[in-house]
Amino acid sequence: MKIAVAGTGYVGLVTGVCLASKGHDVTCVDIDEDKVQVMKQGISPIYEPGLSELMKENMEHLTFTTDYVSAYKDAEVIFIGVGTPEKQDGSANLTYVYQVAKQIAQSAKRDCVVVVKSTVPIGTNDKLESYIHDKQKADVNIYVASNPEFLAQGTAVKDTLHASRIVIGVESEEPGEILQRVYADFEAPKLIVKRRSAEMVKYASNDFLALKISYVNEIANLCETVGADITEVTKGMGYDARIGDRFLNAGIGYGGSCFPKDTKALSWLASFNDKEIRTVKAAIEVNDSQKFKLIKKAKKYYEDFLFLNVAILGCTFKPGTDDLREAPSLVNVPLLLEDGAHVRIWDPVGTDNFRKKIPNQKIQYCESIDEALVDADICFIFTEWDDVKKYDVQKYKQLMKTPIVLDGRNCYGLDAFENTGITYASVGRPTVNDR
Ligand code: UDX
Repeated sequence: MKIAVAGTGYVGLVTGVCLASKGHDVTCVDIDEDKVQVMKQGISPIYEPGLSELMKENMEHLTFTTDYVSAYKDAEVIFIGVGTPEKQDGSANLTYVYQVAKQIAQSAKRDCVVVVKSTVPIGTNDKLESYIHDKQKADVNIYVASNPEFLAQGTAVKDTLHASRIVIGVESEEPGEILQRVYADFEAPKLIVKRRSAEMVKYASNDFLALKISYVNEIANLCETVGADITEVTKGMGYDARIGDRFLNAGIGYGGSCFPKDTKALSWLASFNDKEIRTVKAAIEVNDSQKFKLIKKAKKYYEDFLFLNVAILGCTFKPGTDDLREAPSLVNVPLLLEDGAHVRIWDPVGTDNFRKKIPNQKIQYCESIDEALVDADICFIFTEWDDVKKYDVQKYKQLMKTPIVLDGRNCYGLDAFENTGITYASVGRPTVNDR
């Protein structure tokens, strides 16, 4: 099928490449000329495991362009995968979605389905359809369908090719049938529902996961007070199939492009409709404070961070991505700098983005974990990269001036630190060798 995809971020590019891998002819449109030039050479502008390889293998089915008119004029299906960033009040900014909708309305010259993959507030697809119909130039049928994306960064290709489910929200049969054809070769349960339900599935799923994490984090905080171990507790919980054993990792809070934005968007949507979604509001509050957990713990060992060498291991919001959106490191590092610390950061892929987000000459970026740890007075682990999890813990003692390790992602078993003289404090577990 002839398909166009608007936007080449995580959602758009992964969708485009995966559809091309199933034999569809896909044109990916982006306004950024430089990015388009890079993609034309078969190079992915984002770090996503497996994406570059799949892209290179399927270049014969892929076109990259800034020319939306030629891309949209005869496409049978047009996916919208542009960003819906958070506005100041927590609501979703739909400017980019509407920009694309306008371009489609002006360019489409054949019957087509506009498929909204971007996460949009409930009711947006209805409004987009009227908007497109008002503005369309040619006398053709343009349908709008909701098809939310459930991919997680770091596993985006796998999540798309082997999706847990494909949710299709339509108001009539025809667009539903067309989307069934688009996804014919994707092995995943396909669910055809009304558009507003499809839009809600996305928010309800993401916010449920955010809630699950915040709940576990609160239980973890309580475990610390009452002397229980959260990893043992969640193991015990996970055997109950109604709870499930995934997404029960306690830590310093969720980040990324989805959970923070989608919790606030749903909360905003509820209050806009004179309703309150108290559980989600609570999850947001818990997450906001959880991000500062390690700094609070550190105050037990040092009154302030003036002239202290602070090693930071990991700055991305999770491993497997160079994305920093809403990462706990972004709120913690400025506090440490403000307090006079010498900050050294190691991260395998995130440091370039960190430099852009927090331009500060005083931060030292390290090529290795060893380099970050030399003479450090304290070490904060913000991301559970494999390199950190596999790191020889004895080295914390050998390299650091004072071996205090504060682990925000529970990278190690507690046994690893017993009788080492290293103070190891994590989340929801007893501190080993406390001082
Ligand atoms: C998420 C959803 O998983 C995905 O379905 C949706 O489409 C977009 O949002 P993503 O943001 O890429 O994907 O990452 P995810 O792996 O879900 O992690 C999000 C955050 O939650 C990370 O900061 C991670 O560290 C944190 N997390 C996750 C926990 O703190 N504990 C867990 O048990 C799981």
